[in-house]
Amino acid sequence: MKDLRTIILAAGKGTRMKSDIPKVLHKVCGVPIIDYILNITKSIGSLKTYVVLGHKSQLVAEHLSDKYKVISQPKLLGTGDAVKVTANEFKNYNGSVLILCGDTPLLNKHVIRSIVRRHKKMKADVTFLTAVVHDPGGYGRVIRDDKGHAVAIREDKDAIGFERNISEINVGVYCFRSKELFAELKEIKLNTLKKEFYLTDIIEIFQDKKLKIETIETDDPREGLGVNTRLDLAYAENIIRERILNEWMLNGVTIVDPKNTYIHSQAKIGRDTVIHPFTFIEANVAIGRNCQIGPFARLRPGVRLGDSVIIGNFTEVSRTKMGNKSIMKHFSYLGDARVGTQVNIGAGTITANYDGQNKNVTHIGDKAFIGCDSVLIAPVKIGSKAVVGAGSVVTKKKNIPPDSVVVGVPARIVSRRNK
Ligand code: UD1
Ligand code: CA
Repeated sequence: MKDLRTIILAAGKGTRMKSDIPKVLHKVCGVPIIDYILNITKSIGSLKTYVVLGHKSQLVAEHLSDKYKVISQPKLLGTGDAVKVTANEFKNYNGSVLILCGDTPLLNKHVIRSIVRRHKKMKADVTFLTAVVHDPGGYGRVIRDDKGHAVAIREDKDAIGFERNISEINVGVYCFRSKELFAELKEIKLNTLKKEFYLTDIIEIFQDKKLKIETIETDDPREGLGVNTRLDLAYAENIIRERILNEWMLNGVTIVDPKNTYIHSQAKIGRDTVIHPFTFIEANVAIGRNCQIGPFARLRPGVRLGDSVIIGNFTEVSRTKMGNKSIMKHFSYLGDARVGTQVNIGAGTITANYDGQNKNVTHIGDKAFIGCDSVLIAPVKIGSKAVVGAGSVVTKKKNIPPDSVVVGVPARIVSRRNK
C-alpha cells in the first residue's frame, strides 16, 4: 500500500515482566514478540515503519534491521506522547498512519489489513479495532452514543459508573488520516491521574470536531492480548502454538497429540507426515512427505528430511540432511550429517561432530547400514552400502569405502558386503 506508514509503540518499560531483557524481545514460540508486529507491517505492505523506543531500549534497536526507523521517546509520557515524537517524520505526508503496540503478538494480519481497507473505503479520519471481552478490567472502554457511534475511549483508571461495565474494549490498533492525527495530537491534555498523555483521548477530540470515527470489532478477542507478565507470555505461547499446529493439520499433516507437540513457525512439513507426541520441531527445519516423527524427537535448526523418513523415539537431529526412506528409529544423535537415501541408523548411533573447537561433517552414503551403538567421529565418510558393525567406533578421517563391512574399536574392514 503506497500511502500507508506504520508507527509501532514500544517504549514502555515492561516492568511487570521482572526481566533484564526488554519485553518485546521475549520470545513466543521461538520468535521475539516485536517480530510478530514487524511481520504484519511487512505483509500488509506498509511503506515505512517507525518504532518508538525508550532511552533504555538499545537491545531492541540492535535487534531491528535498517529497514525500520527507530524514534526515541525521551520521557515515557504516555501513548499520546509516543506518537507525538514521530511528528517530524510525517510533515509532508498525506496518507494513512497505522498505529500498533509492540507487545501484542496475537494480532491477525487479515484483521489489520481489513482495518486499513475499511478506513480508506469509508474515508474515515480514524478507524480503530475493538473487542468484546468477559473481563474488560485494565483496558480502555469504548463509549458509544445512542445511535451506536463510537464517541470516546475511557481508560480503565478513569472509567466511572456504567462505563466500568462496558465490555467492548480498545485493542490498541488504530488507522488515522495523517494530517488530522498530528493536528489533534496537540489538543490532548495531560491526564492528571497517571501523568500521561493518552492517545485514546484523541477519539473524543475527533468527535468534538465532527471528524469521522469508525470501528471494527474482532471476532476473536484474544487477538488483542498485550503481553505484560510472564503469565501473558505463556498464554500467548499456547495460542500461537495452537495456530501453527492447526495450520499444519489443515494442510494434511497428522499431529497425534497437539497439546504435546511443539512446532516453530518457520518449519515446513510435507503432507501425510505423522508427528507423534512430545516432538519438538525448531526453526528452519523442513520435513518431506509421509514421514514418521517421534514420539520424543527433537529436530533442531538446519534439518532437512526427504520423503518417507522415520525418526523414532529419544532422538536428536541437528544441521543434518537425510534422504528419502532413511530411518533412525531409536535413541540416536545426528549432528552436521549428510545422510543419503535408504540408510539405516541403528539404535544408539552417535555422530561425534564436535571436537572441542569445530563442528565437523559426517557423510553417510545411500543404503549404508550403521549398526547399533556405533560412534562416527567426524569428519568422516561412510561409503554407500557400507556396513558398520554394532558397537564400532569409526575414527576421524578413516573413510569407509562403499560396500565394505567394518567392525571394532577402532573400526577395521573385515569383508565386502554381499550384493
Ligand atoms: C493501552 C490503551 C488502552 C487499550 C490497551 C490495549 C492508552 C492510553 N490506552 O493501554 O485503551 O485498551 O492499550 O492493550 O493508550 N508506550 C510507549 N510510550 C509510552 C507509553 C506506552 O511507547 O510513554 C507503548 C508501550 O510500550 C506499549 C503501548 O505503548 O507497547 C501501550 O502502552 P501501555 O502502557 O501498555 O498501555 P495500556 O495501559 O495497556
Ligand atoms: Ca499494554
